[in-house]
Amino acid sequence: MARKALKLASWTSMALAASGIYLYSNKYLDPNDFGAVRVGRAVATTAVISYDYLTSLKSVPYGSEEYLQLRSKVHLRSARRLCELCCANRGTFIKVGQHLGALDYLLPEEYTSTLKVLHSQAPQSSMQEIRQVIREDLGKEVPRIHWDLSTERVLLMEFVDGGQVNDRDYMERNKIDVNEISRHLGKMYSEMIFVNGFVHCDPHPGNVLVRKHPGTGKAEIVLLDHGLYQVLTEEFRLNYCHLWQSLIWTDMKRVKEYSQRLGAGDLYPLFACMLTARSWNSVNRGISQAPVTATEDLEIRNNAANYLPQISQLLNHVPRQMLLILKTNDLLRGIEAALGTRASASSFLNMSRCCIRALAEHKKKNTCSFFRRTQISFREAFNLWQINLHELILRVKGLKLADRVLAVICWLFPAPL
Ligand SMILES: Nc1ncnc2c1ncn2[C@@H]1O[C@H](COP(=O)(O)OP(=O)(O)OP(=O)(O)O)[C@@H](O)[C@H]1O
Ligand SMILES: [Mg+2]
Repeated sequence: MARKALKLASWTSMALAASGIYLYSNKYLDPNDFGAVRVGRAVATTAVISYDYLTSLKSVPYGSEEYLQLRSKVHLRSARRLCELCCANRGTFIKVGQHLGALDYLLPEEYTSTLKVLHSQAPQSSMQEIRQVIREDLGKEVPRIHWDLSTERVLLMEFVDGGQVNDRDYMERNKIDVNEISRHLGKMYSEMIFVNGFVHCDPHPGNVLVRKHPGTGKAEIVLLDHGLYQVLTEEFRLNYCHLWQSLIWTDMKRVKEYSQRLGAGDLYPLFACMLTARSWNSVNRGISQAPVTATEDLEIRNNAANYLPQISQLLNHVPRQMLLILKTNDLLRGIEAALGTRASASSFLNMSRCCIRALAEHKKKNTCSFFRRTQISFREAFNLWQINLHELILRVKGLKLADRVLAVICWLFPAPL
């Protein structure tokens, strides 16, 4: 029994640690989750649980009625300790606790029933904590609302002293890195569209400000006007993720398939061009291979005029959520054009990262097999690692050797679709 108890304790702690490392690598958690206090708590809890199993069951004959009753009590005590650990450490630990609570077929009932409370009663973060995470991870701020001075018809917000996001001069005057802002804006929207499915659909420059945070001096983006949000259906969001993955990694068969699933019909080449703002030639060659040129820009502009009837036919066919996403894309592209930061290979890789995470999350949600989930997690981590590798290669692409390494790597690891 001692060995069994130790096995259980090690298994749970290993699950917590392994999932912790995995989630950390995917930026799901606050790096503080690896702080000495949290790790210390986990180790102490594991030790207490192991000691409890080893000492409590020693005095009763193995397999007797008394033994079974006592073991059930120890299971329950241990599960409660584990639950307390998850609540105290929060972040990843809650996620893992929730996962353990769902393993009815694997863990004793005392564990699953105790840990299940984490599904509905997980400790909640305060508004202040949420703001801090948004600010730290996305460099994004939302103005405070003066609820006491707001009514159903009047909304009074904090005045944010910043410049419009397309105002290069403002950024230069205030030593704000234009490229960093553009990158953050892209990341923020990828998270909203691919991962959350909850999108601020009115990012015109008057609604997106930039400033240096008065306290920290860090550059941040402030989103104003939260009146036009689109909730994307899961089906739409996943199809859209697949479509972008196919566009980024130039899988034309899938570009056609997912464009059609999103309502483009036979006009899918036009749809792909509108989404990417690239020519059909570039879409076929790979949008992340070469940035847009002035000649291509001119070609797109001319074609837009020639294809107006087809464009309006397409817009009539796609669902409303697609219309709002197209509008949002165009507004963002307008900002990038004004800043001179049209989508680079690196921004496509950031989009691809979000797609990979979103698709893996969905697959994990739809399987109850622990091993399948682990498999999905490994695949996800591998795909993200591939992207990191691509990014690294891009960074050193100036070196001749890197081109050869890139060719070998592309051959070894095909696109993460
Ligand atoms: N909380 C705020 N702090 C600072 N400036 C703001 C704030 N809210 C709005 N503004 C600025 O006030 C101006 C008018 O905003 P308003 O939302 O009324 O119109 P808009 O953004 O130009 O158009 P839309 O109604 O389509 O959003 C904009 O330049 C905007 O950047
Ligand atoms: Mg506005």
